[in-house]
Amino acid sequence: MKDFKDRINHIKTEFDASLEQVKNKEALQDIRNLYLSRKKGKITLLFNDLAGLEGKQKPEAGKLINALKTHVLKSLDEKSTEAGTKREKPAPVDLTLPGHKTWWGAPHPVLIFKQEIENIFTSMGFSIADGPEIETDYYNFEALNFPPHHPARDDWDTLYLDKGDLLLRTHTSPVQIRVMEKQKPPIRIVIPGRVYRKETSDPTHLPMFYQIEGLVVDKDITFSHLKGTLEVFLRRLFNENLEIRFRPSFFPFTEPSAEVDMNCTVCKRQDPDCRVCGGSGWIEILGAGMVDPQVLKNVSINPEEYSGFAFGMGIDRTAMFAYRIPDMRLFYENDLRFIRQFSKK
Ligand code: DAH
Repeated sequence: MKDFKDRINHIKTEFDASLEQVKNKEALQDIRNLYLSRKKGKITLLFNDLAGLEGKQKPEAGKLINALKTHVLKSLDEKSTEAGTKREKPAPVDLTLPGHKTWWGAPHPVLIFKQEIENIFTSMGFSIADGPEIETDYYNFEALNFPPHHPARDDWDTLYLDKGDLLLRTHTSPVQIRVMEKQKPPIRIVIPGRVYRKETSDPTHLPMFYQIEGLVVDKDITFSHLKGTLEVFLRRLFNENLEIRFRPSFFPFTEPSAEVDMNCTVCKRQDPDCRVCGGSGWIEILGAGMVDPQVLKNVSINPEEYSGFAFGMGIDRTAMFAYRIPDMRLFYENDLRFIRQFSKK
């Protein structure tokens, strides 16, 4: 028993001495392991050796070891807060150093422009709707009056998915069908969203871009409603004096159909060599028309009772004219020097 007591005392002296020397956290951890590790710690071994003592001596020896263990734990704790406090002392502040610059996030220009458009339409009583970017052939084409294999489909360079008849929507027009299936007239909605086409990127084309679609269906809707709505919209978006013109065109889902041009906001119809309008003075800005009676029939709306108009416009493409940006790709290259210019605050 005396041997055992000596051993305990010896361990305590040795522990106290080595703790004195500790300068950093790593050394502290080493000591903790040396004395307390679960397999070979010096104190752990003492507990193991208890078994070899005579029965009567065990409780006394056990108490001594426990006392040592408490001492070791407490000393380690004290030392570690001491080390911690030392480390946390703040470094002296150098008030001459330059400060850290704070960057604020800013909305993306295409988002800003999209919201401007939405605000104009909601102020005219339109609601905002949306639909899926992965579409079926039915919604993207067939219900919009493109029969299977009809050559009109070639105008939309479609990206097909390899499962079922799924595709990436080539325009926002399929959402017209989805809304009319669920909602009875009167309908007055705009549908902003991403669309996809198999295009090689160039200054005016991208495989992904944004469109906004408009749809109005009610009793006695005429072409003059379409004209008036688009004129008010474009004048509010660009400027009060903007001139617009309608040219006859073709879309399977509208009859009659029109292409809408506005006068060139870049050269103001003054530059015969203008790179934006090619000197014609006009920029094609949207497609529009009266909803084809067949499209109404496809969604069980009676074309004898109701009529409607629709239109579709590229958001990023129109933003190019509004902000006078020569290359649409700039919107998506994420060069912050470009993007930050549009934030108003
Ligand atoms: N979906 C057409 C396109 O992507 C744009 C369009 C034209 C939409 C005429 C319409 C419309 O709603 O009436 O080119």
